[in-house]
This record gives sequence, C-alpha cells and structure tokens, in this order.
Amino acid sequence: MSTSNPKPRILISRGVFPEVVQRLETYFEVEPNPTDTVWTKAELIDRLRDKDGAFTTGTDRIDAEVLAACPKLKICANMAVGFNNFDVAAMDAAGVVGTNTPDVLTETTADFGFALLMATARRIAESEHYLRAGRWERWSFDMFAGSDIHGATLGILGMGRIGQGIAKRGAHGFGMKVIYHNRSRLDAASESACKATYVSKQELLQIADHLVLVLPYSAESHHAIGAAELALMKPTATLVNIARGGIVDDAALAAALRQGQIAAAGLDVFEGEPKVHPDLLTVPNVVLTPHIASSSVPTRLAMAQLAADNLVEFFGKHKVLTPVTALPSGVSR
Ligand code: DGY
Repeated sequence: MSTSNPKPRILISRGVFPEVVQRLETYFEVEPNPTDTVWTKAELIDRLRDKDGAFTTGTDRIDAEVLAACPKLKICANMAVGFNNFDVAAMDAAGVVGTNTPDVLTETTADFGFALLMATARRIAESEHYLRAGRWERWSFDMFAGSDIHGATLGILGMGRIGQGIAKRGAHGFGMKVIYHNRSRLDAASESACKATYVSKQELLQIADHLVLVLPYSAESHHAIGAAELALMKPTATLVNIARGGIVDDAALAAALRQGQIAAAGLDVFEGEPKVHPDLLTVPNVVLTPHIASSSVPTRLAMAQLAADNLVEFFGKHKVLTPVTALPSGVSR
C-alpha cells in the first residue's frame, strides 16, 4: 500500500459477521468492535473522530454533535432498513451520506410479523409459560381460547414493502380481508396484488380484528397508537408492533391490555429499548420479543453485506446503492 494513497479508515460500531469484517479489511483500515459493546456517545465519537466512514446500526445515534466532532466522516452505512438513528438534516448539512438496507429483509420481517401475530392471537407464549410453570392439570373447553387468524380482518398501518408482504401472507395464505392505512395510497396494481382496501386510520382502528404496525418512526408517528386510538379498537382485537418503539405509547397499551380494552398485543420493539416498560412485563396477554423481526441468519448476513457494499461502492466508485440522505456532488446512486 502506498503511503500517498492510504486505505480509508472505517469504524464498525457493533459486532458483525466475521466474513463481513474480513471483506471490509480488504478495502479499508478497519476498527471493529469484537466485544459488541454499545458505546456511549463520547466513546463513539472517540473512535469515529479519525474515520472516513462508519458501518453503523440502529443503536448508534448520528447527530449534529457527532458530526461536528468527526469532520473526516463521509458516510455512515446503517445495517438496518430503519434509519431513525440518523439526524438526516444534520447529515445533509454536513455533507455526510447515510445508507440503509431495504429489500433484503422484507420477506423475513413479514414472516416474523405474521409469526408474532399468530403467537399473540393464539396465546402461544402465555400458554407455554403456564405449561412450563407446571400449572397444566387437565384439558378444558376454553383453555387459552384465542381468536382466529383465517377469515379475520387484518389491518395494516404503514403499507411499505414489509406491510405489503404481511398483507399478501394474510390475504393469500389465510383468506383474510385486508385493510390498510398509509400516508399515501398504493396504486391499483399493488392494492390488487395485496387484495388490500384503503381506509382511514379511524376505520382501520375500528374495523381490524388484528392490527399490525409497520410504519417508520418519526416525530409524526410518535405515539400514533395511544390511549385514544386503543379506545377505538375492538375488545377482541390484537395489536402487533414490529415497526419501532415510540410508535406505541407503551404505558397506555399496558393499561389497555390490563383493562381488556383490547385482547392481546405482540411487541418486538419498545420505547427506550432495551428497557421495557415495567407494566408490560406484568400483563399476561402480551408477547414480547427483543427486536428480532429481521433476524434470520441469511437475512442479517444480507443486511451486513449490503451495508458493506455501500461503503465499498462509495470509496471505490463514488456511488451508493441505497442512500437515505442527499448525495453530495460527485456521488451518485
Ligand atoms: C431494521 O432493519 O430497521 C431493523 O429494525 C433492525 O434490526
């Protein structure tokens, strides 16, 4: 390697597949995080200060303070489709490119949304805990009687790629009637492929037997489901959140579950995770999973490789594959 043309310096902010680290090492001078420590902002800045690029995850907040302290930084490649950990306006102002990992996780995440819906509606976690606790003494006619998936009305809030994947599973696999609400209505061909009908948010809340949240987190979607929205839902309804913590008001949800305002909830994401609102830990009719919707081995590897591709393309060809910020001049997609 010539000293006049050193390799760009890259920080990998969390643990990742060794093959991805090795691949990045062929192009870059890499500082990995082999212990998978979640660094404080000060620790992140300390390591990022002298880097040209970063391989980030949703646990790394890239904001104006970080950007001001890291003037060499040119790109943050997030290993996630969501990028609410990026302050996009601050990155645009600093001319730092941000990328995400869409598409590669769509089907896996839709599978998980459906799995969580089924586990919730059919009370799988609750009944398993009961069995493991040695409390099962006899069969009874209404033991853990839940609600049906097949033939029920599936509501989807946020009809992007993952929402459409869930809609297709419901409509084609389970004969569900699918209704959805989204900021913009799908075109007719996409609605027909999903057998989905557009409704207002209020109708969605009132009509759905099972409501799945798949919308991105933003100031606008903060507490999109709170006490008022939960009050509109059927007492037999199931709510599933695989989108982001903060979209649901977790305290209001725990109260609604305890009071039987809705029947059950399945949550993969939480406000302030990995902390979980204590009230959610004590209500029985909620299934809780630790932000794993995209976590199959092939999909997490594909996400990591796509984040790496964005870094390789950026420094090698001044291109990025999946940008989520403005592109500075000289950089194309
Ligand atoms: C995503 O891709 O946004 C997931 O939530 C990260 O696991």
